[in-house]
Amino acid sequence: MKNAHDSKLPMHAILVLVILGFWNVTGQTSESLGSLEGAWVSDGDVVSQTLTFENNKNKAGWTGTATSRFGIIRLTDIVYNGNNVSFSEEYSGGLNDFPPVRVLGVLDGDKLSLKLDAFRYGYIDRVAHRARGKEAIGQRANPGTMQPLKPLADNRLARRPPMGWNSWNHFELRIDDKTVREVADALVSTGLRDAGYMYVNIDDGWQGSRDSKGELRGNERFPDMRKLADYVHSRGLKLGIYSSPGPRTCGGFEGSFGHEEQDARTYADWGIDYLKYDWCSARTVYSTPGEMQAAYLKMGAALQGGKRPIVYSLCQYGMFDVGRWGRKVGGNLWRTTSDISDYWSRMEGIGFGQNGRENDAGPGGWNDPDMLEVGNGGMTLDEYRTHITLWSLLSAPLLLGNDVRALSQETRSLLTNREVIAVDQDPLGFQGHRISASGRTEIWAKPLFDGSLAVAIFNRDDAPAEVQLKWASVRAAGITKVRDLWAQNDLPLPSDGYHAFLRPHGTVLMRVQ
Ligand code: GLA
Repeated sequence: MKNAHDSKLPMHAILVLVILGFWNVTGQTSESLGSLEGAWVSDGDVVSQTLTFENNKNKAGWTGTATSRFGIIRLTDIVYNGNNVSFSEEYSGGLNDFPPVRVLGVLDGDKLSLKLDAFRYGYIDRVAHRARGKEAIGQRANPGTMQPLKPLADNRLARRPPMGWNSWNHFELRIDDKTVREVADALVSTGLRDAGYMYVNIDDGWQGSRDSKGELRGNERFPDMRKLADYVHSRGLKLGIYSSPGPRTCGGFEGSFGHEEQDARTYADWGIDYLKYDWCSARTVYSTPGEMQAAYLKMGAALQGGKRPIVYSLCQYGMFDVGRWGRKVGGNLWRTTSDISDYWSRMEGIGFGQNGRENDAGPGGWNDPDMLEVGNGGMTLDEYRTHITLWSLLSAPLLLGNDVRALSQETRSLLTNREVIAVDQDPLGFQGHRISASGRTEIWAKPLFDGSLAVAIFNRDDAPAEVQLKWASVRAAGITKVRDLWAQNDLPLPSDGYHAFLRPHGTVLMRVQ
């Protein structure tokens, strides 16, 4: 390679050229560079986006559009300076009023690197290249506007938060037909089914390959899904399954991208009653809020168009305020967080973090703070009791994540306390919320259909705490009965409140009439 010393130019001339070159880049206006003008196609994505920028020199300045298979949207607030560009993508066709997505770009010749600011959920990177030949014309020839997404009708399922079991928390990808059958048997023999735990949900790891017609089959560990569904149904239970709107699931198995209707039909044929639809690799094909909604809506519509009622569980970890549009894409529940783990601080962070989402939840559509860890061994009995208490106050789905075949007596009694379950399953479907907090002690309440109030006191501290609750502080008056739901006994009346010592991470749950 040549270097400066090999060239015939004297050193001072090189310096001048370097300085001129520098001035050239930084000193010129964007207009005279003009290099943003025209069409750019984002590379790599299955769903590509064409960005078109125009400089209307004397009038509005820069204007632009973004075209994808979801239609065309406007680019606003375009600021272009040197090699840097920033603009907003305006989404008006969605099922929620999203704030515009802010995009930052860096231009490098025919390459435009983009960073989409997906609100508080981090950045999404995309790379675009300058449109070549027909690429630009093709997109321009078919603009159309982004069709407002039409909300789906209520499927009338999940009038109460779904209850059941899911394979993920305990078994992860080590799940097979035999284990699922044994779990189904255990749900029956332990009395969990009769306590309400109805769904047997297979999570990730069941998928095999598609045949020549694109039909998805189970892998070698799931040789016959229809037979498995028959078996689960014969035990008086329902069967759930798992997929992704992306090409791959989180575990790297086949997803439903491009096969949505076909997979929905397959599930119905097999006798599936519940689908968890997990974002995972969908981020490689969709990125904006509108695209995400369209992807979930697509499967929602496919399920509703089928011949079998299937509960639809959205799993996209709470992005883009899913609680505000989950129902509209046909969802019966939607995850509001990333994954739970079997230790106190994680469960505590997720559970107590749900306060404030009350308005999104109700019969037919529930916030889902993830599956239960009760019985998996990573928390104390008090911590698991707090876990269930909190989930019940939140009207959260109660999906067991343990090995039901090896249930201890303690875990069984935690999970089958009918008075606690009744709080979760209350027909009013209100989600409870925090009433007050003092230090690490919190009082939460949830109104119930018979006019009574579920009240919980939590000690989040690592040390025991003395708690003092005045009924007036939870707006309870004319109390005729206070029942301790874990102890299953009535507390003495009259009293103006409740006083107790709670163990570290302990809780008391009462029904106040
Ligand atoms: C994600 C989900 C989990 C589980 C795994 C499976 O992490 O949030 O609940 O389904 O994928 O791979």
